[in-house]
Amino acid sequence: MKILVINGPNLQLLGRRKAEFYGTGTLAELEETLKGVAESLGVDVDFFQSNHEGALCDVIADAIGKFDGIVINPAAYTHTSVALRDALEAARIPAIEVHLSNINARDEFRKISLTAPVCIGQIAGLGADGYEWAMRALVKKLKERS
Ligand code: DQA
Repeated sequence: MKILVINGPNLQLLGRRKAEFYGTGTLAELEETLKGVAESLGVDVDFFQSNHEGALCDVIADAIGKFDGIVINPAAYTHTSVALRDALEAARIPAIEVHLSNINARDEFRKISLTAPVCIGQIAGLGADGYEWAMRALVKKLKERS
């Protein structure tokens, strides 16, 4: 089983962004933790981060037939990107959306997710742990389906 973890714009800056929303850990640390989680679950994991909407759409399309599930934090594109939503919908790879911060308790514009409706679920507000719970939930769902 192969899981792709996708991070959107500015998440390469984790560790420098507002700690009250995003914590103090770096993206490299987060990915290292997720490697360990994947190993404990007996699945393969790959990572992709981009600041570019088209590159994120490309990686989702390229994942068809190669990955069984996606954990995605679309970051700011969550709230704006019809293209990313369409890519997720067309790929039909089960995906869970993650946000480090609780997007429902912040600016009004962050309360809207264009991408969540085409994901099987969303986890927000649990910090970096949210990625781990997302991966565990996704693998459980995928195992139940197979
Ligand atoms: C975020 C929330 C978004 O609103 C924001 O633009 C981000 C990160 C989060 O993980 O909490 O860049 O997706």
